[in-house]
Amino acid sequence: MPETQTVPKRPEIMTELPGPKVKALIEQDKQYISTSYTRGYPLAIHRGDGAMVQDPDGNWFMDFCAGIAVCSTGHSHPQVVKAIQEQAAQFLHMSGTDFYYQNMVDLAQRLDELSPGNTPKRVFFGNSGTEAVEGALKLARYATGRSQIISFYRSFHGRTYGAMSVTASKSVQRKHFAPFVPSVSHAHYPFSYRPFFGNLKPEDEGAACLDFINNYLFKMVVPSDEVAAILVEPIQGEGGYVVPPKNWLPGLRELCDQNGIMLIVDEVQSGVGRTGKMWACEYDGIEPDIMTSAKGIASGLPLGAIIAKNNVMTWEPGCHATTFGGNPVSCAAALVTLDLVENGLMQNSAQQGQHLMNRLNELVQKSDRLGEVRGRGLMVGLEIIQSKTSKAKDKALRDLLVDKCFEKGLLILGCGENSIRFSPPLVVDAEDIDTAVSIFEAVLKENS
Ligand SMILES: Cc1ncc(COP(=O)(O)O)c(C=O)c1O
Repeated sequence: MPETQTVPKRPEIMTELPGPKVKALIEQDKQYISTSYTRGYPLAIHRGDGAMVQDPDGNWFMDFCAGIAVCSTGHSHPQVVKAIQEQAAQFLHMSGTDFYYQNMVDLAQRLDELSPGNTPKRVFFGNSGTEAVEGALKLARYATGRSQIISFYRSFHGRTYGAMSVTASKSVQRKHFAPFVPSVSHAHYPFSYRPFFGNLKPEDEGAACLDFINNYLFKMVVPSDEVAAILVEPIQGEGGYVVPPKNWLPGLRELCDQNGIMLIVDEVQSGVGRTGKMWACEYDGIEPDIMTSAKGIASGLPLGAIIAKNNVMTWEPGCHATTFGGNPVSCAAALVTLDLVENGLMQNSAQQGQHLMNRLNELVQKSDRLGEVRGRGLMVGLEIIQSKTSKAKDKALRDLLVDKCFEKGLLILGCGENSIRFSPPLVVDAEDIDTAVSIFEAVLKENS
């Protein structure tokens, strides 16, 4: 297949799936690649362009998962590719923890300017989301001299030991890995569709979840003056694309302020324009003490960042560092990514996200198997249920729908126990959304 071939606007499936080349690749993969990878459906990718990806057998798919919310500017955006090529030709690495180079500092300055709130910030660069979370936890302990961390059920923060210890999304992610990092407690995160504290209105559930921390955790389990940080996703990602009520983040901010606790906001999945604003927590008008970013920040190159108030990030030289963090090629990609996101993609995400939610809401009205649509911008979740009366979770149907959409050329992913996430590149237009929704609708009709 010549690389100059025009990229189609819709999926084009020409072979059985997987096709012969993908089958061979999967056989090779089975022999050499770690068995811990989940591999939902048999997609292999050979080329990507905008919101479309092509497999080695020539089939074209419409990508509504963007490499798990990473390819924010679309696959191989020409400006990102150019910046990467230019930086790669200049130099590839010089360990930013030991020496200086311009684009790492420029990126830190840019992140300071773009970060929520007015307090000046400093940045620590790593290579991934989990590293950013790991470092954020270390920083909170260092800055407060306290040990305890509070995070939330359904939260996902990564796979390294610290990040895994605060994660409480799926037990398979923790099974056989104990003992965990100590001094972590989990609390309830409001979820209006399935409220833990009974059938409360969203804001009342938010208040009940705050009250649980204040009146149960602090009084019975962890004294508030031993708590270093509360770590929270502004919208839960892996846990089901759960959008909290308006009083949740401001309530946590207040709780932290009252008790000298660091508020760490994990924007690894929700940040960099994904929700229609640069950071999801801007919807709630709060300023975190420490914020984490990764995934979409460099359009697919590995980069993670801890962005912290500069009076918090004052740890001493040598106490935290990493060889590859802030790699100059990743920084070059991130600078262009932020330009593109700030100058158009973020607004597009808000607009197209609304269109996607409207279209999916039409389906929710028509189908007894769809519970609710929730999300912000192009971070959209859809709850798959057995019926509207029971609201029982239907994981089997969710998995089937994801697989069948793949067979029709639409790439989506599950999240939570029974939800589907739509997290396309931020470059999608209304026609792409309509195509994706019509494929999903057809698959739903055929299978429910
Ligand atoms: C909110 C959040 N934090 C942290 C992580 C971990 O990021 P990574 O997979 O880059 O280590 C993820 C990954 O999905 C995430 O969604």
